[in-house]
Amino acid sequence: MAAHTHDGIDWATRLTALRRANELDAEAERVIARRLVRPLPDNPTVVDVGCGAGGMSVALVEAMTARGGGTIVLVDAVPELLDAATTAARAAAAYETETTTSPVHVRPVLADLATERPADFAGPADLVWAARVVHHLPDQRQGVADLTGALTPGGWLALAEGGLETKFLPWDVGIGEPGLQERLSYARAEWFVRMRESMTDFHRLPVGWNIVLAEAGLLDVTAFSYLVDHPAPAKQAVRDWAVEQLRWLAEVGGDRLHAADRRTVTRLLDAEDSEYIGLRDDVFLLTAGTVHLGRKP
Ligand SMILES: C[S@@+](CC[C@H](N)C(=O)[O-])C[C@H]1O[C@@H](n2cnc3c(N)ncnc32)[C@H](O)[C@@H]1O
Repeated sequence: MAAHTHDGIDWATRLTALRRANELDAEAERVIARRLVRPLPDNPTVVDVGCGAGGMSVALVEAMTARGGGTIVLVDAVPELLDAATTAARAAAAYETETTTSPVHVRPVLADLATERPADFAGPADLVWAARVVHHLPDQRQGVADLTGALTPGGWLALAEGGLETKFLPWDVGIGEPGLQERLSYARAEWFVRMRESMTDFHRLPVGWNIVLAEAGLLDVTAFSYLVDHPAPAKQAVRDWAVEQLRWLAEVGGDRLHAADRRTVTRLLDAEDSEYIGLRDDVFLLTAGTVHLGRKP
């Protein structure tokens, strides 16, 4: 059977939204990529699992070029996303090698991380980057153990999971009840629980990520967090992202909202409405992500 995800999400339709998010995260991801690539040996193999539209793949290519080149393996279960990430990473690699002699080879792999072992198709890796993908696997502990299995001795696992809830709306948007953002977050959290429970062979994860990494046998387990901050009045890309984000929140959590909130959301998403968030000057993007790190003995 072709690689597929287990979360019931039609990821191919999320490509535009993922690209928009990549654009706004780019600055933060460039800093993270440099930090992660700096301690690697020469000519490293880096794996970006669940690469999505490839924002971090590009940042990793840039950081690897600056360190003398290497190989980046891109892994995703969705062909449309893997293609997009591969095109973006190869363009970055070609651009970077115009000015240096440090090529980065880009190798795409279509694979389902829940049923295939990264060690078989992506290792041995000096760095595995896994951002917001493990929580889409039925057994997250097994997922982390499998990613650890793809590491070479001394290799690093960098797992981007959790952080702070993303905010983009003022507390009172002027229509409906104030506090809409909080209720959208609550509805999304509810959806997330059901999304995980609905997976075949779903396992709960009753501990934090530091414990999961330590249980997988990783040493020097630690974490750092980073901020993505685009204050209002924000550039058009932030407003476009906010429209996509609200549409997504309405799609996954809308049926858990009060009817009055659903009406507010409909107005905020209506490009003909005076309250359309795509044109509001007070929309922003503020979020923090956490990267959990561990090293294979
Ligand atoms: C939330 S997106 C994150 C994308 C990217 N890492 C980022 O942070 O922007 C989750 C990604 O994981 C991929 N994915 C979900 N389940 C997967 C699975 N079982 N095997 C491989 N990839 C999977 C999706 O196709 C999607 O690209």
